[in-house]
Amino acid sequence: MAAIKPLIAGNWKMNGLQASLAEIEAVRDGVSAHNLNHVVDVLFCLPTTLLAQATHMIKGTIQFGGQDCHAKISGAHTGDISAAMLVDVGATAVIVGHSERRADHNERSQDVLQKTKAAQSAGLTSIICIGETAGERAMNITEAVLKRQLCESVPKDATPENTIIAYEPVWAIGTGLTPTPEDVAQTHGFLREVLEMHLGLDVAQKIKLLYGGSVKPGNANSLMHLNNVNGALVGGASLKAQDFLGILAAFKQ
Ligand code: PGA
Repeated sequence: MAAIKPLIAGNWKMNGLQASLAEIEAVRDGVSAHNLNHVVDVLFCLPTTLLAQATHMIKGTIQFGGQDCHAKISGAHTGDISAAMLVDVGATAVIVGHSERRADHNERSQDVLQKTKAAQSAGLTSIICIGETAGERAMNITEAVLKRQLCESVPKDATPENTIIAYEPVWAIGTGLTPTPEDVAQTHGFLREVLEMHLGLDVAQKIKLLYGGSVKPGNANSLMHLNNVNGALVGGASLKAQDFLGILAAFKQ
């Protein structure tokens, strides 16, 4: 299997004001100082209010993305953001189907599929999130849940260029809990197999599989070098440059 360049993506969620962009400038400086761009891609998915300023201020070393987009191109959808609007302010990616949106906005995998298609038509890379809840894990149905979410959310014509999968156990998000590295490796191996069935071997082997859920400087090294783990989606620890650079340190050579 060809080597996949890892991606560390920050997800600021509903955090950050204009002054907070200084943290990303500090990340950019750290990435440049250690030449990390050769070995890892860096992306920040920001609140929409910060995207235009961020892409204007910080060019090159760091990519930017949104955290959701509407399935329609434009129209009467008060408060929503289209994929083309994200592209217009310089975003190259968008998170779709994050568990917080699935829970807070009742988004189902069918909705995630439509949003992903809209993102792809606009030229964005979708970071499609899937993950089991604590209850589903306790019932031992994790693999069935993940398989269903993956097959229902990922378009059949997805490519490694326009699609990234983030496996985020819901019980690990923001809790400080993580699955063991063995569990993460096993689950990612399972997801790779499901992708192979869904998209064919060639495409599936090149798609980035990110792990997300309480990734921190202290556990990045043990999680980021596992088979079929091609990076991380990072919430809390993406808000401070020092923490985020601590995660990127896992890729220092
Ligand atoms: P966390 O969030 O790193 O704060 O657990 C991850 C995410 O929800 O993407």
